[in-house]
Amino acid sequence: MIGKDLLQLRGMPRETIATILDTADQMREVGRRRVKKVPPLRGRLVVTLFFENSTRTKTSFELAAKRLSADTLSFSVSTSSTTKGETLMDTARTIFAMQPDAVVVRHGCAGAPHLLARNFGWHVLNAGDGIHEHPSQGLLDMLTIRDRLGSLDGARVAIVGDVQHSRVARSNIWGLTTMGARVLVAGPGTMCRAELAGLPVEMRHTIDDVVRDADVIMLLRIQHERLGRGVLPSPREYASFYGLDLARLKAAGPNVMVMHPGPINRGVEISADVADSAQSVILDQVTNGIAVRMALLYLLLGSDGAPETAGGTSHAAD
Ligand code: NCD
Repeated sequence: MIGKDLLQLRGMPRETIATILDTADQMREVGRRRVKKVPPLRGRLVVTLFFENSTRTKTSFELAAKRLSADTLSFSVSTSSTTKGETLMDTARTIFAMQPDAVVVRHGCAGAPHLLARNFGWHVLNAGDGIHEHPSQGLLDMLTIRDRLGSLDGARVAIVGDVQHSRVARSNIWGLTTMGARVLVAGPGTMCRAELAGLPVEMRHTIDDVVRDADVIMLLRIQHERLGRGVLPSPREYASFYGLDLARLKAAGPNVMVMHPGPINRGVEISADVADSAQSVILDQVTNGIAVRMALLYLLLGSDGAPETAGGTSHAAD
């Protein structure tokens, strides 16, 4: 139903997104049990392959796989041969020889998960590819919004900050608009430029312009690692123009939800008191992330059961 891989939310049909969110809703129940484990993926191998740092996404996928009784293997770059010059495809061939059923991959280059998905028979889940997409994050954000608002249809979501370099923003923009939400964006000109005009968003200039019309305010970390020089104002200047503080939150109203994919920089894009306020759902996002990733692994692997799908395709040696 959802296909072989999870690569991006752009182009994903509305019914597929709804199925994933509904399945995640059911998976949440497992987390509330004393024994937090169910058997559907017993004996299946899920490999996490991270070429970029991660705390929450990697642990969340690993926990999700474990809760479904899969075996997990973490292949992290600092301890692997990629630091010795091995290419992505050679690393992938090594993993292929370990006969995984699914590989969760994060890479600094947009399209890296797509390359693996085309060349190997295992299921590929994109855990973030460059500035392109981070689909499981988009889905967990949508689940968190749907929980509070009841529906995504008609929801007004303001995304503030470094939209240009954010894969989280891109996945949310595609997923949310497919589900009927409106996305408003604001950020400094160097992080929120005209290229975004091709995306289904309403671009505004200031944070005040977007927050007063929003049901949800999603803040983004400045992607220092992806920025060229000279595009970043000082953190203090950024905070005064684009940071969400209590005064702006008050202007947005008492029912507005505050979200952030993490890691947060207190005092820059979000003030400490807003991050810790009752309107912040940042920790709900983390909890929902496990349920969404369980749903994804279950929907991708749970129904195939065919060992031959874990083999390479005829292009494996390309
Ligand atoms: C995000 C990422 O890696 O793209 N983090 C995450 O997965 N929770 C956002 C970020 O790094 O700012």
